[in-house]
Amino acid sequence: MCGIVGYIGNKEASPILLDALRKLEYRGYDSAGIAVITEDKKLNVRKIKGRLSNLELLVQQNPVVGTCGIGHTRWATHGEPSDLNSHPHTDVSQTIAVVHNGIIENHAQLRTWLERHQVSFASQTDSEVIAHLIDFHYNGDLLLAVRETVKRLDGSYAIAVACSEHPDLLVVARKDSPLVIGRSEDATLLASDVPPLLSHTRQVQYLEDLEVATLTCDEVHIYTLDGDEVKREIQTIEWDMEAAEKCGFEHFMLKEICEQPKALRDTLRSRLKDGNVSFPTQVETLLKGASHLLITGCGTAYHAGMVASYVIEQVAGVPVEVTVASELRYRVHIRKEGEVCILISQSGETADTIAALRMLKERGIPTIAITNVVGCTISREADWVLYTQAGPEIAVASTKAFSTQLLSLFAIATLLAKQENTALLDALMNLPNMAQLLIDRQEDIQRFAASQFNKTKVFFMGRLVDFAISLESALKLKEISYTHSEAFAAGELKHGPIALVDTSTLVVAICTQPSLYAKMDSNIKEVKARGATALVITFETVHNFDECADVIFRIPQTHPLFSPILSVMVSQLYAYYCSVLKGNDPDKPRNLAKSVTVE
Ligand code: F6R
Repeated sequence: MCGIVGYIGNKEASPILLDALRKLEYRGYDSAGIAVITEDKKLNVRKIKGRLSNLELLVQQNPVVGTCGIGHTRWATHGEPSDLNSHPHTDVSQTIAVVHNGIIENHAQLRTWLERHQVSFASQTDSEVIAHLIDFHYNGDLLLAVRETVKRLDGSYAIAVACSEHPDLLVVARKDSPLVIGRSEDATLLASDVPPLLSHTRQVQYLEDLEVATLTCDEVHIYTLDGDEVKREIQTIEWDMEAAEKCGFEHFMLKEICEQPKALRDTLRSRLKDGNVSFPTQVETLLKGASHLLITGCGTAYHAGMVASYVIEQVAGVPVEVTVASELRYRVHIRKEGEVCILISQSGETADTIAALRMLKERGIPTIAITNVVGCTISREADWVLYTQAGPEIAVASTKAFSTQLLSLFAIATLLAKQENTALLDALMNLPNMAQLLIDRQEDIQRFAASQFNKTKVFFMGRLVDFAISLESALKLKEISYTHSEAFAAGELKHGPIALVDTSTLVVAICTQPSLYAKMDSNIKEVKARGATALVITFETVHNFDECADVIFRIPQTHPLFSPILSVMVSQLYAYYCSVLKGNDPDKPRNLAKSVTVE
């Protein structure tokens, strides 16, 4: 997720901007840059792909002197990580510099319009249009030019603007992306988040949506887009640095679980056009022409593939095979006519998934990657890439990346659906709201975890997509709470696992497939008869399990095939609270790494 910072005061801006960018590193980034207005009113930009140390070296070799500037860490969304795509972006005359966090949805139309006005672009980013638009509207009044520009932007933005003609002024604006202004005795600062401000001040003002502000060394004025001044109280930050990075959440994992409605909304937005699901034309042609789909990935990503195999087979009638990448790469793979492979990977750097991709490419099988990191190895090597818009995932256990992978796969299922397309589309569009309803009720799950976290055996069971979510739920619980947890297809209960069920066992039954409620009811009764405690996860409208369950957690109603996005959130929250109650650090579970780049 991009981060923006700014400084205007009486000290040298560049070391302060670099230090502020360091404090935003936790948001994830692939390139960074600063722009400083020098004493002779020139705008100097330094920007580079890679770590902040690259930028520090660049500034050391080629210093910029001035007391007013802006900075940026970029998490690529439009255009790969590169020096040119890094921010700040400038207008053609290098008078105006802009840093941006967010996504400009109408950037393509704006770019075409600007090109018609003889503007030439230096980057592939959506953000560059902002710099050129400000220049287009600029006639000496920077505030007015920014106001006129943001009125033309669709999407989300937090921007900071510097102009060489105004070495004592920064202008900022926001909509749907955060922006905080810090007020110290001898400077005014801005940032996407509080941590960069804390070494200078604890006095802050929050800019709200559709507001712009002018920042000088000792004054801040906030306005509506129509130019009316707004009074905003100054607040005092009481948190310490670490809490500030987590925006008040105790752990990154909880923050990321709670970010899922937004992550789903952003991913959905990238997959919708004119009220229907939309993919690049060649991807759509490839998917519609496929007579056999092969899906692969590791761990949680594999579970997303498994859910998709049930959904796509049911709605599209296309055979889907799903295999973990570490197996696929070594297995004898019999190529099928019309086969297309979908590879799923949050990081895009997982060694086994990369090896499977290379094997498939050697065999001439078309490949589509679903990944969260622009410019990652898998995105560069696959034939086509669909990005999830989860933002950086910092906690080791995957949560929002999983639900956005599911959403992308459900969009594919909706595209390929032979019937029910409208019902699926409606359900898909509603998932972010349903996710929010669920997250709002997390205290129920916290309470249940408080009564169960000491259980030494937890089994998850379900049928069809609920079986796939059982596997993901058991993985989440074992990863961060170190509880021995297993998952099985509920029909397999009698074929072995029931031997382990006793009074010390918690069985979580995921029951969202109406045609199988009666079968699940029998399975729950079987484990209850052996003394297990049964938690049932089902829809809020379903009462089939009222008698047999000890506890029921009801998820908002959606299309049963899309229930995994909601049911998994119950398991994520349950695992999180068990981990915390056991005194573990859920963000950094023992023995695990975020990105498994070795076999
Ligand atoms: C589980 C988890 C792992 C990853 C797996 C694949 O919470 O995070 O199982 O899902 O290592 O990683 P990516 O998706 O980066 O390929």
